[in-house]
Amino acid sequence: MIKKGIILAGGYGTRLGPLTKAVNKQLLPLYDKPLIYYPLSVLMLAGISNILIITNKYEKSNFIKLLGDGSQIGIKITFLEQSRPKGLPDAFIIGKNFIGKDDVVLILGDNFFYGQGFTNRLKNALKKNNGATIFTYIVNNPSDYGILEIGKRNKIKKIIEKPFRPKSNLAITGLYFFNHKVINFAKSLKPSKRNELEIVDLLNIYLKKKLLRAEFMGRGSAWLDTGNATNLFNASQYIAAIEERQGLKIACIEEIAYQNKWISKKQILKRINFYGKCDYSDYLKKTF
Ligand code: G1P
Repeated sequence: MIKKGIILAGGYGTRLGPLTKAVNKQLLPLYDKPLIYYPLSVLMLAGISNILIITNKYEKSNFIKLLGDGSQIGIKITFLEQSRPKGLPDAFIIGKNFIGKDDVVLILGDNFFYGQGFTNRLKNALKKNNGATIFTYIVNNPSDYGILEIGKRNKIKKIIEKPFRPKSNLAITGLYFFNHKVINFAKSLKPSKRNELEIVDLLNIYLKKKLLRAEFMGRGSAWLDTGNATNLFNASQYIAAIEERQGLKIACIEEIAYQNKWISKKQILKRINFYGKCDYSDYLKKTF
């Protein structure tokens, strides 16, 4: 079972400018919480409490201000810097000592996942991983993502990054499981035309070795993009609609930590003090 996770929160989020001129994308609001709370909560829901966050070199201190070393929510967070955006596989080169000989989950710091049964699917997939695992989702704009080329009986033939003429509408989401061999495979990659190491090249290595599994997320689940202002706004509205309807918060990291028995009610009180007077604190007070 995988116990380690990496959140890649580097990059400059240029497509979100001017929002991202002074603030890191992963610290922007996605409705009522910083974006990074959502991928962090996915890892926590999967039972992962040893987490490496990779940030760009200017903004590590802001992440630490928000999350500390994780102990206040019962997890362990380590921070490492990425000197410049070199592509997703760079996470495994930066994180090689963190990974060691273990399997690891990579989640992109701006990815939003939601849906009934998602946590169970995650946990089951963690058990089944024997090489690499990807999660795919049907999208209307396949040219914007890594896309699967599918053969007979849903067999994956190839994965192509942002294809001009997509062979399917099955996108690869920003959630991946890998065994520790990913470190050496990442080191063997050559930069693409956009001068980045490409995650699809890494996945195609596992595919060739018949060590790639895909989890097909159904239409009843949500994987939302937060890459530009419109998407970020739409995702915020989605979250607001569900939270207002149920009176329950999505990605409340303290609530998940408590459910996982990683923290006590006393530690939640400390978090209420930390957040001060706000709606999020009121939710914690009401819930605990
Ligand atoms: C990256 C990957 C792409 C994947 C996407 C998911 O794209 O390269 O394969 O589908 O994340 O969010 P990017 O966000 O770097 O354009």
